[in-house]
Amino acid sequence: LNHCVPKTRREIFETLVKGLQRLEYRGYDSAGIAVDGPKNGLKDEKNICIIKKRGKVKSLDEELYKKDQMKLDEEIETHFGIAHTRWATHGEPNAVNSHPHRSDKNNEFVVIHNGIITNYKELKKYLVLKGYEFESETDTEVIPKLIKYIYDNRESEDVSFSMLVERVIQQLEGAFALAFKSSHYPGEAVVTRRGSPLLIGVRSEYELSTQHIPIQYNNAPHHPVLHDEAVKNHSCPEGQGATGPQGHLKDEVQMKNNRNRSDSSCGLHSVGDGKAVEYFFASDASAIIEHTNKVIYLEDDDIAAVAEGKLSLHRMIRQAGEEPVRAIQTLQMELQQIMKGNYQAFMQKEIFEQPESIFNTMRGRICFENNTVMLGGLKDHLKEIKRCRRLIVIGCGTSFHAGVATRQILEELTELPVMVELASDFLDRITPVFRDDVCFFISQSGETADTLMALRYCKERGALTVGVTNTVGSSISRETDCGVHINAGPEIGVASTKAYTSQFVALIMFGLMMSEDRISLQKRRLEIINGLRILPELIKKVLELDSKIKTIADELYQQRSLLVMGRGFHYATCLEGALKIKEITYMHSEGILSGELKHGPLALVDNDMPVIMVIMRDSCYIKCHNALQQVTARQGRPIVLCCEDDPDVKKSAYKTIELPQTVDCLQGILSVIPLQLMSFHLAVLRGYDVDYPRNLAKSVTVE
Ligand code: G6P
Repeated sequence: LNHCVPKTRREIFETLVKGLQRLEYRGYDSAGIAVDGPKNGLKDEKNICIIKKRGKVKSLDEELYKKDQMKLDEEIETHFGIAHTRWATHGEPNAVNSHPHRSDKNNEFVVIHNGIITNYKELKKYLVLKGYEFESETDTEVIPKLIKYIYDNRESEDVSFSMLVERVIQQLEGAFALAFKSSHYPGEAVVTRRGSPLLIGVRSEYELSTQHIPIQYNNAPHHPVLHDEAVKNHSCPEGQGATGPQGHLKDEVQMKNNRNRSDSSCGLHSVGDGKAVEYFFASDASAIIEHTNKVIYLEDDDIAAVAEGKLSLHRMIRQAGEEPVRAIQTLQMELQQIMKGNYQAFMQKEIFEQPESIFNTMRGRICFENNTVMLGGLKDHLKEIKRCRRLIVIGCGTSFHAGVATRQILEELTELPVMVELASDFLDRITPVFRDDVCFFISQSGETADTLMALRYCKERGALTVGVTNTVGSSISRETDCGVHINAGPEIGVASTKAYTSQFVALIMFGLMMSEDRISLQKRRLEIINGLRILPELIKKVLELDSKIKTIADELYQQRSLLVMGRGFHYATCLEGALKIKEITYMHSEGILSGELKHGPLALVDNDMPVIMVIMRDSCYIKCHNALQQVTARQGRPIVLCCEDDPDVKKSAYKTIELPQTVDCLQGILSVIPLQLMSFHLAVLRGYDVDYPRNLAKSVTVE
């Protein structure tokens, strides 16, 4: 939203499209935009134009300039534009289902939504009975219809835009980040969130007059004002949820409670002060970082409104202990960090960044002089953690694998039982959790819905919660009791690479911190700390294998399937390697625990089936060697990841990829990198878009 900062429609499009492109990695099956249309006489004065397109943001961008009636060079002094990329949950990816969604053919209210509305069916039923016609198959469309319904039934002429939104979200169940635009409130913006991330960027030529935005509480009583006799007589077959069996909306704040449009901005000389100022609303900082680094993170159920250039924050009721302000923070992220540089793909760049990203994870935390490790975010809770009875490590996808990779060393260093859990399964099982458990939530984005739900579940049961994330200000980092930022820098490729190795190192550092006063473990600790010291150098050596790995990929890329086998410290490497291959090459791939080979997977092995085996010099070496013999005995032709100078493996292997040797518990960081590179080359050779694999999103904010 630009207030008193004149912009042409072309500039507005450019800003919105650029923002979308930065967010493309989160989801990308369609995109759309809404801006104020050109003034064509009185009738169209407040006309909102919506343009939507299936496919990549690029196709939307091209579409915008095709419409010459858009008056691209017309200057607009105050303007609020919205744009969205969609990753389908309800309804196939097409232009109609993409956002913005609208209240009616005149586009009186338009809305973009990130998340999922779980009670949309009931709301839709209610609104259909009220005569609303729906055009899409989405859950989102109920929102613009609902706000129009509330607007049309308002009891006072001057209800503020934020008040309408406050009423809307009382009806919604599920997760959402929402932005509303309306022809009834030109130049005004209202945004809100629950469960999905949302932040506001502020840019002004003037010094910001405050570092904190006060929250306006609306402690108004609830009254069921919107129920409707006509609807009462039409009971819905599935009629539970928001509209209830009688088909009326949930109790609401009464409209006549003296809050009106001018109220929403009165006394709010907080940010803006009506001066030339620009506001950016986004679900991720990367969308706005090139405009400003001053941001406000919204909390669940916060409503932010901009009217006449002034930003105000609203909530229903102040909870005990709640801070009545939101701080304006300064982000340290740089734009070049999120650009691709000279690499073919973000994923490739991120693989090659690992010597630095690992170093950044350790920076300032390990003191190599006196062999101590200090994770500042856990310091105050260390005593409590040491008293616990069990550690539970929870995550999804790659983040789960980081837990699998470090489980053994965590058990060894903490001398505690460690459970590693997939967030969705952990919740499905209603796993018992106790007050003396410490639960770790591993998440690159810090927004994964399943992991977030598991966090809330553990919190409710009184466990101490620890976040391990790569995103400052993310939901998981805010909602956990304490935590560690892995500091790997923004990861944009959907297939996670550098975040995995940094999570891995962060968890090991935690183990080292826990064992500092254990005399019996000092030798082991020293060995690991020394290993960490030279790890970035060893990673560089592994990256030098890139061209060799590419040659092997040339041989494999037309295969349909690829098995990855290993055990002990390298089982996680196999799972993670196979996941990378599945995600971006669409080949079938399975990570197999070599110990299970005889119990089934061996039946898959013949001279056609490509097999990769991980055989490192550690306590499982002999057993892995046995597995190698079993594979070669079935005419398999294994490509083996092994330590440098291992003639025994070389003798039996079809091909080898030789890695420098390090401490057993760190070796998994080195063994996963060739598989990251392999998946990258396979995907390129197969002609796929490495950074944007089909059907997947970087940040899965729906369950
Ligand atoms: C998605 C991504 C994966 C990622 C997983 C967990 O599925 O595609 O790459 O590992 O989510 O994400 P998180 O942000 O919680 O680590």
